[in-house]
Amino acid sequence: MKPKIVVTGSYNVGLVMKTGKLPVWGETGLAEGFSEGPGGKGSNQAVAVARLGGRSCFVGCVGRDRYGDQALEMLTAERVDIAAVKRTELAKTGAGFVILNRSGDNCILVDPGANRCMTPDDIDAIASVYEGAAFALFQLEMDKATVLHAMKTAAAKGARVILNPAPALPDIEALLRHATIVTPNESELKTISGIDASVSIEPQYIVELAQALLDHGPDAVVVTRGEDGATIVRRHEVIHIRPPKVEPVDTTGAGDSFSAALAVALGEGQTLEEAARFACFVGAYTVTGREVIPALPTREQVEAFIQAKAGEYQNGEGRQR
Ligand code: RIB
Repeated sequence: MKPKIVVTGSYNVGLVMKTGKLPVWGETGLAEGFSEGPGGKGSNQAVAVARLGGRSCFVGCVGRDRYGDQALEMLTAERVDIAAVKRTELAKTGAGFVILNRSGDNCILVDPGANRCMTPDDIDAIASVYEGAAFALFQLEMDKATVLHAMKTAAAKGARVILNPAPALPDIEALLRHATIVTPNESELKTISGIDASVSIEPQYIVELAQALLDHGPDAVVVTRGEDGATIVRRHEVIHIRPPKVEPVDTTGAGDSFSAALAVALGEGQTLEEAARFACFVGAYTVTGREVIPALPTREQVEAFIQAKAGEYQNGEGRQR
């Protein structure tokens, strides 16, 4: 049976510029390419869930504008249930400016727009969507109060909660209390731990920060580490998962596909270690394609990719304790 996964979060149209050099304040730069497409961490995760074989429901808010129309068309075409999506006249559909460098790394500036119009009352109105969900997946592109209320609502309906704390905010202890699993990347882990994200720290310290988060409530922290894979941190266990080697083209959405894949695999009954390994493959696959939605793999594509990379994983090489 397909696990039901409810993703509560943002939709943003993505406006992407590729460049070898960021302009400084006051300067105009010439980019090396432009594209426009669907994005937003919530919507990306909802589409990833559907492509990987989960029963995907999206809870979010878009404007009554052209981008909002495009969002609903795309989600419907991707077999995401949009019955719990709100539309508003009060703000425009969220937008993300994505700057991509020649190595495929990005920096992103988001104006949440309509995403901020989703309120705790709106969550109460659609609360039944969380019934029967194996997992409820959250990020932080909506108001914190709405995310907190939705997490509590989902948990009360019996869903296990995954918090992908992106974009990272300090002071999220109240959210951590209601999360079963938290999936920060290294910079997000620093920010949610109250440390300046630009400060570089030893890998050992990353584990210590994740262990400290466990004191606030989650059963596990799964730190996504890009080309270094992922690290599962539980009370008495730390497991490093090595990812397959790929040539990255565009890293945008890799964290989204990782969290979505983790939810689907856990919802199917895989162990956390198996699910994190599957999610590493899905994340690695995602960075090999341009733009987010076109790069998200179907289940068949990721299974074929896992087969193709099987040699790298012989003799337990993909795991270190
Ligand atoms: O995680 C990638 C996403 O973050 C982009 O699609 C952008 O819209 C921002 O929300």
